[in-house]
Amino acid sequence: DEEADLVTRAPIVTFLGHVDHGKTSLLDALIGINVVKGEAGGITQHIRAYTVEKDGRAVTFVDTPGHEAFTEMRARGANVTDIAVLVVAADDGIMPQTEEAISHAKAAGVPIVVALNKSDLEGVDPMRAMTQMTEHQLTPSEWGGDTEVVRTSATTGMGLDELLETLLTVADLHEYRANPSRKALGVCLEAEQQGDRGVIAKLVVQNGTLRVGDILVCGSSHGRVRAMTDTLTNAPLQEAGPSTPVNLTGLDIPPGAGDRFHVLSDITQAREIAASREHGSRTESLSGVTTKV
Ligand code: GTP
Ligand code: NA
Ligand code: MG
Repeated sequence: DEEADLVTRAPIVTFLGHVDHGKTSLLDALIGINVVKGEAGGITQHIRAYTVEKDGRAVTFVDTPGHEAFTEMRARGANVTDIAVLVVAADDGIMPQTEEAISHAKAAGVPIVVALNKSDLEGVDPMRAMTQMTEHQLTPSEWGGDTEVVRTSATTGMGLDELLETLLTVADLHEYRANPSRKALGVCLEAEQQGDRGVIAKLVVQNGTLRVGDILVCGSSHGRVRAMTDTLTNAPLQEAGPSTPVNLTGLDIPPGAGDRFHVLSDITQAREIAASREHGSRTESLSGVTTKV
């Protein structure tokens, strides 16, 4: 991409952390809805992705069903994350899945911001969790390290503005950029066959602009974008620029979580590429096609 075509894009931020430390509740609180209440057993089963705006700037958040999804996606080289928010419940401190989340984020090479959540609970000692963090090479900035720690409460709303501001500051340091005028490419977060509605895929556009009518290949699926909707409001979208999550219809079969997509100009070519990926391992077909397109 030409330098002149690049514009600043919203950082894509993934919530990681131990089960029940408040990843979904934080995202709910940030956007003012309540998904947690409707979750079976209070356990997240789906990947959610929404864009939140603050002072005219956007942050795209991804809430995962747990660290397995993140590992899986990273293993496929389809990591969409720019910044990891490590959610640590102040009463529990660092737990086994927190440790795994730390190693995944470190392996992905993305900056880590800690949300010391449930800070509303009486009698919690933030020093304890911060000491544990230090033992995992995450030294809080208030102790002279380079890890930003924000005390949050999804219940009272404490620290949510500060969390957004911290993420925007990290984004400023890294200057995430994209070219909205190129053909879109990105990643599928999840997809399913929904009866008469056909395949519904949740995609994040990483670069370029995706439009209704575009022809795309995503893993071993392909199709023409029939409709796109905003992941939060379900409002119909004609186009989606960099860092935008969308729900999309028009693909022939559900792509896998972590499958990359790109836009082509020819439906026959799209069908052929998708078909060539149906046999053999994903890695083989991915590398085989990447060199072709
Ligand atoms: P999984 O998706 O199952 O890994 O959990 P999660 O990390 O998304 O946690 P979730 O948002 O489901 O929250 C777990 C429980 O903690 C729920 O009962 C929430 O109401 C509660 N909770 C979350 N955040 C806070 C908080 O800041 N303060 C208090 N007191 N409770 C919280
Ligand atoms: Na939960
Ligand atoms: Mg959850």
